[in-house]
Amino acid sequence: MKTWRSSSNGVIFLVPVFFSFILVPQLVFRSYASPPEYTRHPPRSIIFTEHNRSNSQPQQVHISLVGKDHMRISWVTDDTKAPSIVEYGETSGKYNSLATGNHLRYEYFFYKSGEIHHVKIGPLQPSTTYYYRCSGVEPEFSFRTPPTNFPIEFVIVGDLGQTEWTASTLEHVGQEDYDVFLLPGDLSYADTQQPLWDSFGRLVEPYASKRPWMVTEGNHEVESFPIIYPKGFKAYNARWLMPYEESGSTSNLYYSFDVARTHIIMLGSYTDYKKESEQYLWLQADLAKIDRLKTPWIFVLLHAPWYNSNDAHKGEGEAMRKAMEELLYNARVDVIFAGHVHAYERFTRVYNNTADPCGPVHITIGDGGNREGLAMKFENPAPSISMYREPSFGHGRLRVMDERTAHWAWHRNNESDSIVADELSLQSLSTSKVCTQKGESHDEL
Ligand SMILES: *[C@@H]1O[C@H](CO)[C@@H](O)[C@H](O)[C@H]1NC(C)=O
Ligand SMILES: *[C@@H]1O[C@H](CO)[C@@H](O)[C@H](O)[C@H]1NC(C)=O
Ligand SMILES: *[C@@H]1O[C@H](CO)[C@@H](O)[C@H](O)[C@H]1NC(C)=O
Ligand SMILES: [Fe+2]
Repeated sequence: MKTWRSSSNGVIFLVPVFFSFILVPQLVFRSYASPPEYTRHPPRSIIFTEHNRSNSQPQQVHISLVGKDHMRISWVTDDTKAPSIVEYGETSGKYNSLATGNHLRYEYFFYKSGEIHHVKIGPLQPSTTYYYRCSGVEPEFSFRTPPTNFPIEFVIVGDLGQTEWTASTLEHVGQEDYDVFLLPGDLSYADTQQPLWDSFGRLVEPYASKRPWMVTEGNHEVESFPIIYPKGFKAYNARWLMPYEESGSTSNLYYSFDVARTHIIMLGSYTDYKKESEQYLWLQADLAKIDRLKTPWIFVLLHAPWYNSNDAHKGEGEAMRKAMEELLYNARVDVIFAGHVHAYERFTRVYNNTADPCGPVHITIGDGGNREGLAMKFENPAPSISMYREPSFGHGRLRVMDERTAHWAWHRNNESDSIVADELSLQSLSTSKVCTQKGESHDEL
């Protein structure tokens, strides 16, 4: 792993990595980026994680949940002939199962990706450690499947990037056990420089090969380009395939899944969400299928926050809020997690800009450690619905104890330590008598 200091020898970094991509104008994805007037805490250097295995060996290994008892294993090989197979079993070195999947490559201007493999394995036992190899060669990896019931613990981090802050956040994540990693958008900050997608895949592999990483897209995933790549998401969709088909979605940009009796909805802030759009209709149908006895908890992740008292990205989530908030409110969604704003902020239960005991808690957790630094300026005074806010890097943990109770903690990065700076006990809205009579409940309070 090599580190380039962005101040002293940033040029060394720029030359080899960016050389062939210099022609790609940065215009398109910049249109989403924050205006320059925000003062941020100093970002730390980008870490470029080099490929140090052979061409036929797997790199950038990450796993994701598919259906109730399968896992998708995704990896890249430079060798285009490496087979898309995963051998796995419950004992290290002893693989009594084998699954075959498929592979693809993509091009982005002068960049040609390695062979990207996706293999679905299973059925798998819950709460069980599996050992596996990709493409028939070393090294061996292992993961643990999530439980089928409570308790379950999620780690949630947005706007991760690949800087020294990212490494510090991930180190803190790895210090305590958890079941599933959730990422509400902005992964690699490659921003059209495709080798940075590869570097990001290698940086996160030690974590993403061990626990499922479930992600949704942020503005940094778009990478569209007029006429040539008008739809964008080329790298993201090829590399971070999520179980969208399994949830009846027609797009990798939004989907849902159940894990351990929670229903998790990953929405797309950068694809159409207006009333009657495909995403809107899909969401409506998805919510209608939820059985709160089977999944007492509903969590939603999306990138651009609907509630935000930071000066950065103010109002960017407003159109989506107006389109979809009522659906989520009527479904009694418990928590909505967002990223995008590089700070932490927690709101009370809210609906239509007003505190509401049957509305979701909104949490912005865009503080993973990206290269842009922190969003330092909050509006003053804080709106009454904003309960806690702080511009620091960190990560969140959501531990769902049972049908009724969950515990949320935000861990702030403090150099080598991480410190719980904000916490909250949550009661599921499905167990709240006042909120379970749909629609009119809050009027009856
Ligand atoms: C290969 O890279 C990984 C991640 O950067 C690092 O942890 C490992 O020590 C490296 N291995 C060798 C043999 O250099
Ligand atoms: C939300 O609040 C606004 C302004 O207070 C109001 O005009 C609007 O009707 C409300 N919308 C809903 C769906 O309650
Ligand atoms: C944060 O880290 C610094 C440096 O290691 C240490 O002196 C300080 O006590 C830590 N703060 C807290 C709240 O633990
Ligand atoms: Fe963002």
